[in-house]
Amino acid sequence: EPRDAKVIELSRAAAAPAGPAPGMDLLRKRREELRGHILEGRLDAVRRQHSLGKLTARERLALLLDDDSFIELEPYRRHQASGPGLTGNRPHTDGVIAGSGTIEGRRVFVYAQDFTVFGGSLGEAHATKIHKVLDLATANGAPVIGLNDSGGARIQEGVLALDGYGGIFRRQVEASGVIPQISVILGPCAGGAAYSPALADFTFMVRDTARMYLTGPDVVEAVSGHRVTHEELGGADVHGSSSGVATVVHDSEEECLADVRYLVSLLPVNYLEPPPETAPTGAVDDYRPKLARLVPAEPNQPYDMREVFAEIADDGEFFELHEGWARNVLCALARIDGRVTGLVGNQPMVFAGVLDGPASQKAARFVRFCDAFGIPLVSLVDVPGFLPGVEQERSGIIRQGAQLLHAYCEATVPRIQVILRKAYGGAYIVMDSRSIGTDLSLAWPTNQIAVMGAEGAVNVLHRRELAAADDPAALRARLVAEYTEEYLNPQYAAERGLVDDIIDPAETRAALARGLAMLRDKRKPAPARKHGNQPI
Ligand code: HXC
Repeated sequence: EPRDAKVIELSRAAAAPAGPAPGMDLLRKRREELRGHILEGRLDAVRRQHSLGKLTARERLALLLDDDSFIELEPYRRHQASGPGLTGNRPHTDGVIAGSGTIEGRRVFVYAQDFTVFGGSLGEAHATKIHKVLDLATANGAPVIGLNDSGGARIQEGVLALDGYGGIFRRQVEASGVIPQISVILGPCAGGAAYSPALADFTFMVRDTARMYLTGPDVVEAVSGHRVTHEELGGADVHGSSSGVATVVHDSEEECLADVRYLVSLLPVNYLEPPPETAPTGAVDDYRPKLARLVPAEPNQPYDMREVFAEIADDGEFFELHEGWARNVLCALARIDGRVTGLVGNQPMVFAGVLDGPASQKAARFVRFCDAFGIPLVSLVDVPGFLPGVEQERSGIIRQGAQLLHAYCEATVPRIQVILRKAYGGAYIVMDSRSIGTDLSLAWPTNQIAVMGAEGAVNVLHRRELAAADDPAALRARLVAEYTEEYLNPQYAAERGLVDDIIDPAETRAALARGLAMLRDKRKPAPARKHGNQPI
């Protein structure tokens, strides 16, 4: 016999007559309608989408998220607007599938624009769903991923569509540095809509189908008389190599979405959480003789800094960002002894690894991302200086170089500098030198920290003697040798505390693993102020 009221109530409920609960018939009908809309209602549009080489929004989400993890928000949402094509035509979802799911078990919030509904165009209802995703992602401290495939502002909804975009931009800016934001472009993304990916931390594009521009080919032709194709104006390769708008470029949606999953596996879910760690890999004792052989001692000989990254990173794996843009500097996320680390490296294979405007901006943005999300920084330095030239000066290399300087100076995450070979002039300072706050500076025995290289220095210091010499070539050779002996050696900087230690190149991975362990608990409060004024 039940003894308390609650149990009696439960046992009565169990004995209630079988049959559908109130409202169930209606719910079933609505769900069927929804399924009809999703599965059959737009078969032609789905076929067209496939014929363009594109997947549907739901197919994309299925590839992006862990199986059966998707929770959909507002599937019944419809526009309340009217106008040509809209009156009496109110498909569910309003052209964007919104919700949340997991990637390798970790929560993310997502939206995927559905080109088969009004060309994925953004009206009030569509925008409000994206606002909700951004709000929930921020409140839950989880990354947000937007899959873009849209004709832009829904023309019939006029200013409400523009207002919807503004609401997205404001939320993205408020979420900046709080949660990672990833934008994936899988179709058109035109006009002001392109500012959403531009505000994200990472932007992925797929060749042939993705395109991003403020004004399309027709407007460009009307204004300038130039006929350009969509691909030439705003294709994945344009943004992956010339403009730097795209962080990662792929040939197919499948590869692209798999890579987004990989990136998410390296990121913290928000700025308060550490990045996901894997088990230590024994890096602290690793000895890599190949490292010494990779870097030629001769300062002008090129080599591929990527090979150095591979020797330093766990399993030789790293996620390179902006692979095709500003290739004279490399930025990558990698694990060292199981911990995610940001690697910045000069690339001697491209323009001798010189720093120019785009390279400074690329590295600056990466340094700021890592700093915002608590990812330690390792800078691998082999830099002959900033690129001299009229064009560079006119395009603002001073301003752009200052962005990198500002980013490093401001960074409070653990910072380690490794000087492999050349580190000359202003570029030495900017590449996370002791003076701008690196925590640990390590140098290879081949390092050459100096105001400039030996040839340049001798030309300035001994100009008159060289002009008067009987045998200027012999004199120059002797002076270069003397300068090299005196200044271009590891001891000079080490004795003056500008490097902490001179290491065997083969010990670099181990030294980095130990250094990162030493700096693991680093905390450095930011100065009290509203915010700095970075030289953007
Ligand atoms: C309403 C739109 C639309 C839009 C496409 N559609 N874009 N409906 N508003 N912006 C509809 C089409 O009418 C069509 O409907 C369906 O979506 C598919 O479009 P198609 O043109 O048939 O597809 P396709 O040939 O692949 O061309 C895609 C396209 C083209 C290149 C995107 O549709 C296009 O140029 N659209 C307009 C783009 C644009 O100018 N947008 C405004 C940008 S300015 P039916 O019924 O025929 O299937 C902007 C400002 C944002 O976005 C400001 C933020 C600050």
